[in-house]
Amino acid sequence: MGTSWKSASVHCGSDSWIDSLPSTPAFVFDKDRINANLARFKQIRSISGCHVLYSIKACPAEALLREIANQVDGFSVSSLFEARLANEVTNGTAKLHTTTPGFRREEMSELGTLCETVSFNSLNQLQRLPFLIAGRANIGLRVNPQLSFLEDRRYDPCCHYSKLGAPLSEVVESWSNGSLLRSGLSGLHLHTNFGATSFAPLESTVNHLEAQLPELMKQIDWINLGGGYLFQKANDLDRLLATLQQIRDGWQAEVYLEPGSSIVDDAGMLVTTVIDRFESDGKSIAVLDTSVNHLPEVFEYQTKPRLHGENQQAPVAMTLVGSTCLSGDLFGDYRFDRPLQINDRIMFHQVGAYSLVKASRFNGLNLPSLCYLQGNRLTHVRRYHYEEYRQQWCEDDSEQQRQRVGL
Ligand SMILES: Cc1ncc(COP(=O)(O)O)c(C=O)c1O
Repeated sequence: MGTSWKSASVHCGSDSWIDSLPSTPAFVFDKDRINANLARFKQIRSISGCHVLYSIKACPAEALLREIANQVDGFSVSSLFEARLANEVTNGTAKLHTTTPGFRREEMSELGTLCETVSFNSLNQLQRLPFLIAGRANIGLRVNPQLSFLEDRRYDPCCHYSKLGAPLSEVVESWSNGSLLRSGLSGLHLHTNFGATSFAPLESTVNHLEAQLPELMKQIDWINLGGGYLFQKANDLDRLLATLQQIRDGWQAEVYLEPGSSIVDDAGMLVTTVIDRFESDGKSIAVLDTSVNHLPEVFEYQTKPRLHGENQQAPVAMTLVGSTCLSGDLFGDYRFDRPLQINDRIMFHQVGAYSLVKASRFNGLNLPSLCYLQGNRLTHVRRYHYEEYRQQWCEDDSEQQRQRVGL
């Protein structure tokens, strides 16, 4: 069967919910899938004793945070806004860990209150900022082990000249001259990979750290191994478990994992409607009511999103394009059983992570609405309006008022 909205959905067993969406584009998160992903982490936690933090940068939607909060040990956040949101949505109950190259002096006090652990991104930050959180948050350091597993530097936290983490060579030096010992450091943070489907790189990284910093490793209380691994695609979970065991036995340290994609990516779908079609230089073009700005990584990384039910052998080729003025607003060439018609609904899937959170209203195209699916039941939770677009671009009414009265 080719691709159309009529094709059966792997996520819901039936496609009736696609029809029942009042409008498109719509981001739909399948809560059953999220819960299945969380069950995998529950198992990993119970076998290994590690702690799991959901990295909310993947998608910080409130209903997801609530769904996930009581099935993980906390959240990892990368800014003050993420920390505030996670704190607010969970009524202050979620443990928060944070790291970012962008810590600002004026935000540290609040971050130190909201977060249990703050991992500085450089030795310079570690010298300048810890006194601002002293006595409140645990102090960590993000380390770049300088062991790279990716060829494309856009995704590689350990690339040459990386901005992410203190280079291991400098950490070794700082350990040798005693300054690291005096910094109040209680743990280390690593995030060294992207979309990895084997835990072999993680195993090598841990061995590398152990070899370079044997004494420091025995002194730390915790280590955060970050994200960057696709747990549902890896078939060497045993290797992960052995690595976690090695850390616990050898260093007596608590271990944290902070997955984002592995919890939400395969649960997210973008449903869109064909709003025009025409021929261009011999190609059939179908214009969608969405844009690559709703799936920005398609453009950033020049990837082709997966279309639900796609069959590469189907007879009809069509190019799916977004409806903004950018010529490169293209999803790619796909094949269908029949030519798509205006009003056909189609669905991109495995787009739950880093899509909605990066989406913009370029060209004034509204953001997709947000829905949740559980079983076959669809809940519409968020629809955006002109008012929000206007608020983003018009001057603040209260500010205008103040200026008018000369304040
Ligand atoms: C520091 C850190 N932790 C965790 C994650 C989540 O990684 P993933 O979505 O690959 O699981 C990221 C993603 O960029 C990250 O930068």
